[in-house]
Amino acid sequence: MKAILVNGSPRKSWNTAKALDSAGEGLKENGFDVERINLYDYTYKGCTSCFACKLKDAKTNGVCAMKDELRPVLEKLREADAIVLGSPVYFSQPLGQVRSFVERWLFPIYSYHYENGKPLLCRDKAIPCGMIYTMNLTEEMYKEWGYAEALKQTPKSMDEIMGCCETLNIFNTYQFKDYSRYDITLFDEEEKRAYRDRRFESDLKNAFELGCRIAKRAKSL
Ligand SMILES: Cc1cc2nc3c(=O)[nH]c(=O)nc-3n(C[C@H](O)[C@H](O)[C@H](O)COP(=O)(O)O)c2cc1C
Repeated sequence: MKAILVNGSPRKSWNTAKALDSAGEGLKENGFDVERINLYDYTYKGCTSCFACKLKDAKTNGVCAMKDELRPVLEKLREADAIVLGSPVYFSQPLGQVRSFVERWLFPIYSYHYENGKPLLCRDKAIPCGMIYTMNLTEEMYKEWGYAEALKQTPKSMDEIMGCCETLNIFNTYQFKDYSRYDITLFDEEEKRAYRDRRFESDLKNAFELGCRIAKRAKSL
């Protein structure tokens, strides 16, 4: 079985990528082939409302018809048995590149054709998904600043359209290699480093376990 990890961060070896790779280890441990895709390697746009994916009796029905570098990525995702999306939080949302990707990935699968109050989704079976957010804020700030509400919509769409989605939040991430080079008073480097040294390993373990659960769910379908 095949799992795709989609890294929405422009950075290919930082917090989001590391968490995704740990989820990938959990999937591999359960017999999956795992591939990581880095969205910033591709030039693409968000959905352009062409609605080719909703045309009656057309071969583009259920499939994104846009011809750009995201096309082969979307083809791979159609073959995947499990998908984990990772996104840094930018201004309390998944970053723009991830939003554009989600439009292109999920909108063709979501159908306007409803029966018994439910859309006839354009996929053969449920594909277990994971959503990993990494963010600068502490868990306390996340709660106080209303992030839970802002961040829940993307995994909710993944859950509704792909069949199930589990979310993992990673807080208070370490953002720079050398804090002394940057003009910052909002965060204290010592505190950040202490938190990272204390917590990041267990965050990665949580990501690993998320990968294991997704793999087991995918196998049980
Ligand atoms: C443009 C920009 C906006 C950001 N906005 C937020 C934010 O609103 N809330 C937050 O908690 N972190 C914010 N961050 C921090 C990142 O979400 C955080 O450092 C994340 O872990 C980075 O992921 P990476 O290390 O995989 O690149 C922002 C970072 C950038 C570059």
